[in-house]
Amino acid sequence: MRLPDHIRISSRPEDDLRELLAKKNYSRVSVLVDENTKSYCYPRLKNQLPEHQLIEIPAGESKKTIETCTLVWQAMTEQQLDRHSALIVVGGGVAGDLGGFCAATFKRGIDFILVPTTLLAMADASIGGKVAVDFGFYKNQVGVFREPAFTLISAVFLGSLPENELRSGFAEVVKHALISDKTLWDILRSKPWKANEWSSLVHHSASLKWHVVQQDPLEKGARKILNAGHTIGHAIETWFLAKNQPVLHGEAIAAGLICESKIAFKKNLVTAQELQEITSYLTSVYGNLKLPGSADEIVQLCYQDKKNKGNSVLMALLDGIGRARWDVAVSMDEMVDSLTYYGSLHT
Ligand SMILES: NC(=O)c1ccc[n+]([C@@H]2O[C@H](COP(=O)([O-])OP(=O)(O)OC[C@H]3O[C@@H](n4cnc5c(N)ncnc54)[C@H](O)[C@@H]3O)[C@@H](O)[C@H]2O)c1
Repeated sequence: MRLPDHIRISSRPEDDLRELLAKKNYSRVSVLVDENTKSYCYPRLKNQLPEHQLIEIPAGESKKTIETCTLVWQAMTEQQLDRHSALIVVGGGVAGDLGGFCAATFKRGIDFILVPTTLLAMADASIGGKVAVDFGFYKNQVGVFREPAFTLISAVFLGSLPENELRSGFAEVVKHALISDKTLWDILRSKPWKANEWSSLVHHSASLKWHVVQQDPLEKGARKILNAGHTIGHAIETWFLAKNQPVLHGEAIAAGLICESKIAFKKNLVTAQELQEITSYLTSVYGNLKLPGSADEIVQLCYQDKKNKGNSVLMALLDGIGRARWDVAVSMDEMVDSLTYYGSLHT
């Protein structure tokens, strides 16, 4: 599967960025970083960039807000970016989503270039043109679809990424394999997760996502398969957050993938052996979260998922390994049963 021309995998991002900017001839360039990517990633690019100004935001999901956007729009205004300017975003999914949103709305939209620096952003968030910020308790509540002018993906930045962030992002790579590439799934589970060759894996995973997004850029149908594992996964993530015991996004998604595979098994979409494979691989990488004794609280959170329609919980479920279907109505009993299954794995 090929990536389009505006998404490049690079082993020397500083050279590729310099070359790209020389071709684009932007009137002004600003670079958005967070406090970590400023220290760990920006130095590699800095001297190869044309004259530019820096915009720094605080790191973390809790800062993916309109208030942070206000700071960025303020800086863009002071730095006199015009409609022929570009914002280069060097960071993970938070900086990419927020920076992309700021650029997409500033003066009705200026170019932005994504340089993703986490595994999650390389394999997932930087592909597909969704940019947004959180609002109140809701994730990605305010946003738009807008393709970056360019996305430059380089696994060299993973060198400084903390291992828990790498493992968290890896859950989306696993999801891409489960929904669209059985061969990749077999390769992944043939070795310890840390033994993966990240550069080629990122390339592969980003291509899988691009291929899905291309079929349905505005998420009216086929793109919804990317939500596999996320209905129950998000509910679990939210439940732990509410208890003030946040878990890694990837841990919650892994748990969601196991539960939703159990539902797929109940609906005769995956076999007992496939369910066993999925359960044992994901448990070996992510362990097993201790969920509440009663499944009710998680199930209630599933009813708040924004992909639902009316009173039905709609999920993207595997249809065998390597395929998925979307908008599958799931009953309360099926959700409870899947959470009971997950709970029974706890040792
Ligand atoms: N737009 C999409 O399609 C899409 C898809 C999936 C997820 N997302 C979004 O992505 C966000 C999560 O992204 P994330 O997991 O990348 O988190 P993140 O951007 O918060 O990055 C995680 C942490 O790693 C630090 N960091 C980033 N790169 C680093 C590096 N190379 N070395 C050292 N530290 C580094 C960051 O400062 C941060 O502290 C969520 O807000 C989610 O909604 C968006």
